[in-house]
Amino acid sequence: RKQIVKITTGSQALDELLGGGIETAALTEAFGEFRSGKTQLAHTLCVSTQLPISMHGGNGKVAYIDTEGTFRPDRIVPIAERFGMDAGAVLDNIIYARAYTYEHQYNLLLGLAAKMAEEPFRLLILDSVIALFRVDFTGRGELAERQQKLAQMLSRITKIAEEFNVAVYMTNQVIADPGGGVFITDPKKPAGGHVLAHASTVRMMLRKGKGEQRVAKIIDAPNLAEAEAVFQITPGGVTD
Ligand code: GTP
Ligand code: MG
Repeated sequence: RKQIVKITTGSQALDELLGGGIETAALTEAFGEFRSGKTQLAHTLCVSTQLPISMHGGNGKVAYIDTEGTFRPDRIVPIAERFGMDAGAVLDNIIYARAYTYEHQYNLLLGLAAKMAEEPFRLLILDSVIALFRVDFTGRGELAERQQKLAQMLSRITKIAEEFNVAVYMTNQVIADPGGGVFITDPKKPAGGHVLAHASTVRMMLRKGKGEQRVAKIIDAPNLAEAEAVFQITPGGVTD
């Protein structure tokens, strides 16, 4: 039987909000406006996943699919040092790929699944899971097709999470003002509609606080309280 592992975010408050951390065999989604900390949390998880289980890590490798081009290996170094790990070894255990189309993203997932069958991975990051769909299907008439392809991708991701006992951390965007503000007015609404809402095991909203402070809120999770946690973004990654 596979042992479910909860990987630390680097912040005790955020871990508690999440019921112990980012869980394996589950999909954790973070959405929020720009600079809300989605990518910085991804960087911290790249490191904390490699910690031993006794230190609230996952003792495994990391697969990172980047659609934004915002992964910074040099950001990993001080985060690794903060956790007392060798930065070079940590970087060697992050398998990184940049995706350019939603089809490319899907094919990368297939390749990673083959790798996960051979090596012990504990985290899959998609930053972001949806951006390429929003680029590749732009017209309103393409929405149904987009959602169908998105559902296909999410079903593949869910299968990977369960089959390899991997935690999935995926970022999402907020819909700011689609269609010139005609049909959606709530700026906090996550993209991806029901398809993404249904696929996510845990969905959290991030927002900016004072300075480097950030606030996370759990949205629509049956097993978790709709509470909030405050954390900080520091050179050493996410912390209390
Ligand atoms: P988008 O991808 O643009 O939607 O934003 P995001 O939610 O991914 O934000 P991201 O995690 O990239 O940035 C959050 C904050 O992290 C920014 O406001 C920066 O102040 C901070 N940040 C970015 N790079 C560094 C860094 O190298 N060191 C530190 N300490 N903070 C950083
Ligand atoms: Mg980002």
